Amino acid sequence: MSNSIKVFSPSTVANVGCGYDVLGFALDGIGEEMVVTELSDDKMVILENDKFDLPLKPDKNVASVAAQALLDAAGIKKGYSFAFDKQIHPGSGMGTSASSSAGAVFAVNELIGRPFNTHQLVEFAMEGERMLSGKAHADNVAPNLLGGFTLVRAYGPLDVLQLPTPDNMYVAIVHPQVVVKTTDAKRMLKQTVKLDQAVAQWGNVGGLVSGLYESDFGLIGRSMEDHIVEPVRKLLIPLYDEVKAKALEEGAIGCSIAGSGPSIFAFAEGKATAEKIKASMQAIYDEVGILAYTYLSKIGTEGVRVL
Ligand code: HSE
Repeated sequence: MSNSIKVFSPSTVANVGCGYDVLGFALDGIGEEMVVTELSDDKMVILENDKFDLPLKPDKNVASVAAQALLDAAGIKKGYSFAFDKQIHPGSGMGTSASSSAGAVFAVNELIGRPFNTHQLVEFAMEGERMLSGKAHADNVAPNLLGGFTLVRAYGPLDVLQLPTPDNMYVAIVHPQVVVKTTDAKRMLKQTVKLDQAVAQWGNVGGLVSGLYESDFGLIGRSMEDHIVEPVRKLLIPLYDEVKAKALEEGAIGCSIAGSGPSIFAFAEGKATAEKIKASMQAIYDEVGILAYTYLSKIGTEGVRVL
């Protein structure tokens, strides 16, 4: 068995509007490559070759934390080095930390002979999220590992469902260069919601799931409305309302905050519409001189894979 493996781990978008901490989807071909190599001792080593100053201490890097959780569960004492090549800037809201956690557990599981199934890997990858944001949420790592759209039906015990991906469904994403930490974006949310907000929200989660099954873009769009999180978090994102209004005017199915932000994503039917939306979102930030990166992707139906 080889002692080194190279994997691709997709970026992901969590929440999908109404589904805070439960819904997410993977991107197609956008994410990170990671090389994981077994070492001769039991130390975890983060190689200093990425361009984003990722934490080098093994107890502070999501990849080594998640991989260690897997090794502990397997009762194996081994060490690995991790080298990352990320396409997306950390802190974007596009699940960059989750891609590392998911990539690491997938890679180590392959190297030790695949003792765990993909659903078990989700639980180990969540430990990276716990270390980073204080909460072991799975809405990024689940689509990372399973691909497509996923729903975390329950956290205790974890019950993750894979949802269908409608054909010809694209996503345009704009990442304005402002810093939003997931920890802060979580802390700013109220711990209680009003009953009428909850009713509207769970109606929408059901509607969105049904829309994915039926490939009903109208239903998907109107179900994405978020009554709880978006009204609070959008205050951290410059020109959020303008960007969303423009995306919808250009034909977006729906538009919301990607994960904890600051990226904004918009669904579109077909690549041409997605291109138009992407350009119009970028133009809003260009006009006021805010640096913003944009991305366009089909919904990625594949999770982490060996390269
Ligand atoms: N569901 C999480 C949140 C995703 O919105 O805080 C963080 O990337």
